[in-house]
Order: sequence, then C-alpha cells, then structure tokens
Amino acid sequence: MPLVPMKQILDHAQKNHYGVGAFNVNNMEQVQGIMAAAKETQSPVIIQASRGALKYTNFVYLKHLMLAATEDNPDLPIAIHLDHGDNLEIVKKAIDLGFTSVMIDVSSMPFEENIKTTKEVVNYAHGFGVSVEAELGTLGGIEEDVSNEVQLTDPAQVKEFVEKTGVDALAIAIGTSHGAYKFKAEPKLAIDLVKEIADKVKVALVMHGSSSVPAELRDQINKYGGNMPNACGVPIPSIQAAIKNGIAKINVDTDSRMAMTGAIRKVFIESPEKFDPRDYLGPGREAIKKLLITKMQAFGQAGHAGDYEPMTIEQAKEKYYS
Ligand code: G3H
Ligand code: 13P
Ligand code: ZN
Repeated sequence: MPLVPMKQILDHAQKNHYGVGAFNVNNMEQVQGIMAAAKETQSPVIIQASRGALKYTNFVYLKHLMLAATEDNPDLPIAIHLDHGDNLEIVKKAIDLGFTSVMIDVSSMPFEENIKTTKEVVNYAHGFGVSVEAELGTLGGIEEDVSNEVQLTDPAQVKEFVEKTGVDALAIAIGTSHGAYKFKAEPKLAIDLVKEIADKVKVALVMHGSSSVPAELRDQINKYGGNMPNACGVPIPSIQAAIKNGIAKINVDTDSRMAMTGAIRKVFIESPEKFDPRDYLGPGREAIKKLLITKMQAFGQAGHAGDYEPMTIEQAKEKYYS
C-alpha cells in the first residue's frame, strides 16, 4: 500500500467515530514497535517526526525508516507526518522527503499571523496533495516556553481560522501538555470545549500531549534506577471521552519513550553482563509494541486497516483542486 495522505485516515476516523494514534519516532526500534502493533491490531496508523527527530536522524535516515515501514506493511494505511513544523522551510523539506502530511504550529503568533502563515503552508502542501494540521491555542511543555502561558483554544476563533486557512486538521488546546508531568493534581480536560468546537467545524480535531504516563511504566523506570517522581498523564477514559466528543488524532510520544526506557533499564540492572544492543533495544521495541496494541484498541483504530482503498497524494491533490 502506498503512503496515504493523513486526511484520508482522519476523515474515515471522524466519520466512524474512532480515534487514530499519531506516534513519534526517532529510531528504527520505535518505528518497528509501532508497525508491529498496527499489524497485530490491523490499524491504520500515523507515524510522526518532530523537528528534533529530523535533526537527530539527519533527515535521510528517518525518511528511509518510515519508507521501510510501508514496504514491510503493504496492507496497512500509513501516513507520515511532520510534527510541530514551525516554518515553511521545514514543511518544504518534509514534503521533499516524501511526508504525506505536515503540521504548521505557529499558534504562539497573533491570530492573524497564524492564519497568514498557515494559509501559505496550506497553499504549498495541497499543491502536492499533502495534508496540513495547524493549531489554535497553546499547550504546556514545548510551547509554553514560547508563549509563557497555557491558553485553551478560543472557540470563537475556530470557524474563521478553518475557513480562511483551508486546513485539514486542527490541534486544539483542551488542558493537556507535552511530557511526563502534565498535572499536579487531578487530571482535568475541557471535554465540553471539544464538543463546542466539533459542532462549529468539519475538520478533524487533534489532541496533543495525550500520553497517559501509565503508573506501571513509571514504576518500572523508578524500580530500575530511574527518577521520575510525580509523573502523571491523561487517563485513557479521558482520551476516550475526547474521542467521543470529536477528537480524531491523538498524539503520543512520552509513553513510547517510557516503555522503551523501562525495558532497557530492566535489562541493564538484571543482566549487567549484556552489551549487545539487540539485547536491550529488542525488549525496548517489544515494550512499545505491547503498549501501543492497548492504545490502538482503546482509541478504536484497531480493525479499520482494510476499510478503504488507499488514496495516493496525487489523487488527494486532484480532490483539493476539483
Ligand atoms: O510534541 C513533542 C514531541 O514529543 C516531540 O518531542 O521535540 O523532543 O522530539 P521532541
Ligand atoms: P506526549 O508528550 O503527551 O506524548 O505528547 C506528544 C505530542 O503531543 C507530540 O506532538
Ligand atoms: Zn505535540
């Protein structure tokens, strides 16, 4: 199956009321762990790379790892997505590499500038049939440094933003943040806001900062010499409530990192004589697979891989301009 535009995956999810995980990658074992989970659950899947991931892998290594995922899984719909692109140059670079979707995240800019920059990216990306995600509002974690404050999406801005930019997917801020320390007290999401926004626009809605930081992963890391006190994430029932109210794409990075780290730490502590990277990266990969099988089932994407004929980005391009 060729790589599909992210819009095709999300449109089907939205219409059929399930969520699709978008999982971040930086290396081969992460890509393989995700794909093994998608294969076992027969899930459509979004693999995404941040600017940091592209830099870490010198772009070309990551490109070929992602392409290997499609060659190795010809029956699964896979979209390759740029996560948190912040300018047109990086978007162009991702499209050159063969990505079928990009995010332009300039939500820290004033509203009108966000619209202007997003629109430029949409004009460029749609010319290749590539899907575009943008963002309104700010999350904690990587974004709070820019804006210095966390701001939920203003529902009054959503319709105008979507109409003026022509985006395919919109990331909204509903109280989550990036990383392993999302909440100091009880996790609380603005689920009503999801519903309010979903009622105003037709585009797929995206939830960033969706790692659950499972207690068992945190405890395993801490048991084997790690130090992640008070790590806390979004409970799965809250994510399911968000999906029920209109979220279609669920971004997860931290949990995969924790699964891999916990597995590697266990090998290092229990078998200090081992020094072959396969002896610890293999269990790391397996831990990601195990974790993501449960997520794909919980989000509802499991079993949907064969629901539609794959669309090429050339076909997507024709649709944008028809
Ligand atoms: O949204 C942020 C992702 O977790 C990527 O993080 O910039 O450290 O690769 P990164
Ligand atoms: P987490 O840090 O919760 O995994 O969020 C990842 C994310 O939003 C990537 O864009
Ligand atoms: Zn994010």
